[in-house]
Amino acid sequence: MTSLNLTLPDDWHIHLRDEAALSTTVPDVARWAGRAIVMPNLTPPVLSVADALNYRERILAHVPEGNSFEPLMTLYLTDHTTQTMVSDAAASPFVHGIKLYPAGATTNSDAGVTALEALYPVLEAMQNHDVPLLIHGEVTDPRCDIFDREKAFIDSALVPLTTQFPALRVVFEHITTRDAVQFVEAAGEHVAATVTAHHLLYNRNDLLVGGVKPHLFCLPVLKRDQHQLALRKAVTSGSPRFFLGTDSAPHTRDDKESSCGCAGCYTAHAALALYAEVFDEEGALDRLEAFASFHGPDFYRLPRNTTSVTLSKTPQAIPSEFQLGTDVLIPIRAGESVGWTVALAS
Ligand code: DOR
Ligand code: ZN
Repeated sequence: MTSLNLTLPDDWHIHLRDEAALSTTVPDVARWAGRAIVMPNLTPPVLSVADALNYRERILAHVPEGNSFEPLMTLYLTDHTTQTMVSDAAASPFVHGIKLYPAGATTNSDAGVTALEALYPVLEAMQNHDVPLLIHGEVTDPRCDIFDREKAFIDSALVPLTTQFPALRVVFEHITTRDAVQFVEAAGEHVAATVTAHHLLYNRNDLLVGGVKPHLFCLPVLKRDQHQLALRKAVTSGSPRFFLGTDSAPHTRDDKESSCGCAGCYTAHAALALYAEVFDEEGALDRLEAFASFHGPDFYRLPRNTTSVTLSKTPQAIPSEFQLGTDVLIPIRAGESVGWTVALAS
């Protein structure tokens, strides 16, 4: 049996949601990650340090006994974010970034940014205070084809932004295209990207051929295989600018299996095992630890975890559903299996 001992990973992009959902989402990620960057797109969003601290307490209440999982909080950038809110965030040891959602780009993004240039003074403050900007990189122009929205965002927003603020640390979240990989590789050392397990494992054929698979619908939407292959190459390249961020997002079965199904894939239950499948298929298991456990903390300027986790190449069966409050959610690989198992965290 192949087994692999890794420094405990972190998840640099996750949705935990709130209230009853936390009793599913928090234990799931805490089984394989030491920390997670927690997205602020609640309703209402996490706008201030005070909101983030309250939310942090609600999350901590669901960390299993004896587990030292730490949520790393973020604020939601809006048209009304001020420079004072940035300096407050910089002064808090619990807030690690501010998240930009273009208004209307994805789930719970209605309060997002409508005119990025108008926020340049706030971005300037983020650069000065060294607060990372986390970006959902898609344009929202209704005329732009959904498969081209990431590329269009790079050209229209990211290139100008990173030119204007060369020292601002930017995490281009859940990248999905070869264009994004190339942008990150060519950008300065202050630009990095997270990559999800589902964008590495699947492409738009998996989503659409033979019928729509609502549980594989996420945003940015899965792209064609050549983009999936570019992502696989990037994460296994050893470049420190790519790191693990699941974008695991719990939604109820009814919200997903609907005439207007919402975006988000749930992977927190088995994320590390899913990434291990990818690295194994690519013959790059020796690079998994750096991607999962080193590049993220190095970029965020946090210490690497000191404990470890063991993965074994033993298939695990995935239940057909999980409880989500009084509802159910359908996880990735529901009723199927994943080729690896987290054997032991120490
Ligand atoms: O698929 C997604 N779901 N993409 C996002 O950007 C947001 C997320 C969510 O909040 O459910
Ligand atoms: Zn997300």
